[in-house]
Amino acid sequence: GRVVVLYGGDSAEREVSLISGAAILAALWRQGVDAQGYDLAEGGLVGLETMRPDRVFIALHGGDGEDGTLQGALELLKIPYTGSGVLASALGMDKQRTKMLWHAWNLPTPESITLGEHSDWRDVCERLGLPLIVKPVHEGSTLGITIVDNVEALKSAYQEAARFDANVMAERFIEGDEYTVSLLGDKVLPAIRVEVPSGFYDYEAKYHSNETLYHLPCGLPPAEENVLGELCREAFAVIGGRGWGRVDVMRDANGSFWLLEVNTVPGMTDHSLVPQSAAHAGMDFDALVMQILDTSMG
Ligand code: DAL
Ligand code: MG
Repeated sequence: GRVVVLYGGDSAEREVSLISGAAILAALWRQGVDAQGYDLAEGGLVGLETMRPDRVFIALHGGDGEDGTLQGALELLKIPYTGSGVLASALGMDKQRTKMLWHAWNLPTPESITLGEHSDWRDVCERLGLPLIVKPVHEGSTLGITIVDNVEALKSAYQEAARFDANVMAERFIEGDEYTVSLLGDKVLPAIRVEVPSGFYDYEAKYHSNETLYHLPCGLPPAEENVLGELCREAFAVIGGRGWGRVDVMRDANGSFWLLEVNTVPGMTDHSLVPQSAAHAGMDFDALVMQILDTSMG
């Protein structure tokens, strides 16, 4: 039957999604799948319905496409779709509620505080320590995120994040190495250590820089990589994640892991992490796309 790849949309990650979607569509065509692309921002849900897809491949990042809104609409239309359902998508897009669940499960995640126009900036810095990191609660690709190393900088970091989301949080900053773990079906794919010469894996380092280093194998001893993988599998299961996803983690100087966030529709550009990790596990991009497509049947 016909597969519709949904991409674009009107979130701040639209440009990333257009690239992910084009790569996925090309892979489906190479594999002989009857597939068509559809920019959700252009024809909306009504346009999608008239295409009468048998299945939808969700390649939308951020906003309605990743936060459960679209997933709910597809449930009502009875169209199967790839990846996580309504609840896990909504939770995954909310970094703070994700952390609350992890706390409840005794999974390690850095402490955070909700910020507002009238926050006591000094108190926030005292409680979390400096540097700290300010994030929009519902955003991806590091948009609106600032590392803050003095009290004076906190308010403007808050205002920057607030451009992206009415909900803003400050999080304790974990000094150390950044890892990411991709999950596909019941498989944990090889972990990647991301190293950025500038020190911050931001939007530029993610999509434009040629200097970002992706260590694969990640360099951890196998037993420790296993611990990391199982931690991420559990972190994804706790929010009810399904099909595929990616969990981002810091490892501090003592070797402790700290969960940062879950991505329920990870990037699928050629710079992206899930395709690299899959390739290291012996699965090329087309095979990866076909496996993700299969998650729509579960
Ligand atoms: N939010 C981006 C697309 C990612 O997690 O890869
Ligand atoms: Mg993210």
